[in-house]
Amino acid sequence: MALPSLKLLQIGDIHWPGADPRGVDSKDAGFDPVLGNRLVPNATQVVLRHLMSESYHPDAIVLMGDLADKGAITSYQECLDKIITVFGDDLFKILIACGNHDVDRSRCSDNDLFQKFDPLNDVIRHRSLPEMSTRAPVFLPLTGQGHQAILVSLNSCMGCGVKRRFINQRPPKALEWYTAYRFRAMDRRKDRSRFEELDTPAFHGDHLLAARSQIQQEALSVLPIVVAHHNILPQETPRLMAYGELVNGGLARSYLLSLDRPILYLHGHIHEDPIEVVATPGKQHSRLITVSAPPLRDGFNMLTVEYSSSGYPLGCRVDSWRRERGGCVSKAAEIRVRFWEPGDASAVLSPQTLAIMRFVAGRGDQEFHFSDITESGLDMPDSLLELEWLGLIEITNRQGAPYLWLVRRSA
Ligand SMILES: [Fe+2]
Repeated sequence: MALPSLKLLQIGDIHWPGADPRGVDSKDAGFDPVLGNRLVPNATQVVLRHLMSESYHPDAIVLMGDLADKGAITSYQECLDKIITVFGDDLFKILIACGNHDVDRSRCSDNDLFQKFDPLNDVIRHRSLPEMSTRAPVFLPLTGQGHQAILVSLNSCMGCGVKRRFINQRPPKALEWYTAYRFRAMDRRKDRSRFEELDTPAFHGDHLLAARSQIQQEALSVLPIVVAHHNILPQETPRLMAYGELVNGGLARSYLLSLDRPILYLHGHIHEDPIEVVATPGKQHSRLITVSAPPLRDGFNMLTVEYSSSGYPLGCRVDSWRRERGGCVSKAAEIRVRFWEPGDASAVLSPQTLAIMRFVAGRGDQEFHFSDITESGLDMPDSLLELEWLGLIEITNRQGAPYLWLVRRSA
């Protein structure tokens, strides 16, 4: 017994080659690095080996960006080649978001905000993978048996490397040092008294508009899944940095909530893994579910979206697979996020399931057995799982075999 489902593998920042800075408690910067780097296994490699040995077979793989570190194109190439080796046949649906660390700042241009992304898409195209969103959003429909979704990839790194000018003032001394340290190119040094370079996360306004109008055209049975590198909600850990959060994240959030439907928003970047839900009272079906992936060295998320027999996405289960200190990867948590309120049942459930809903309502607060329903002449076992997603019932022993289930109407 299982509802139709869509499985998404969400992989966070990789920062290839991905050493774990916490792996060795080094108090001696002068210690031989060759030996020092071999004292613990490479954490990223541990997780990749796990992914290669287990057969998850997702319907799609989403990479949240920051495949490389500090814009190193060779690291970017090596990382993609490793991903291709690990996932082999599952690569037919892969979507890669651009991360701020993927961008080579020396390619930033005052005249073209997008030119700096061209080498990354060249690498992707050369490997016959679906193009990354840079100058426009990328839409990738995902349709399978009983499930429909559309991946909407947005470029949140347009502002990576843009300048903030010092108008009629000299930069603070510390900032001069900071700018010189981060951006060593000689041609930039001569200018550093006039500007600082920022990492400003930002969407292009036209991309937001295009994403909104595409989602608006999709039927409610199609789940929009927005993919971008940066977090749309401010991160929990205070970050003392100028323009460190998406400068038009509020606008993006408002656009998505205005669509009055459940939308998944997947991101990375913050190296933390919160799951958060935003809704707005004026739009009763609005529900923006943001899911952050941890850096790959810590693990990955497997998302399973389940659909009703009438084809509507009902909710998402996020399985957090995390690397343990002992060196293995295991499922650390399972979070269920529902897309609808109990009052939406008639909009998204089939007539058969609604009949079972009425049967449940007739039992009052009494706990009953799975067989009580089938004996009543209603024979549609998946309906209980659908009612559970709507928050209408609780299955106290869902991990057991269905014929053993004990069911109770939700309080
Ligand atoms: Fe990042």
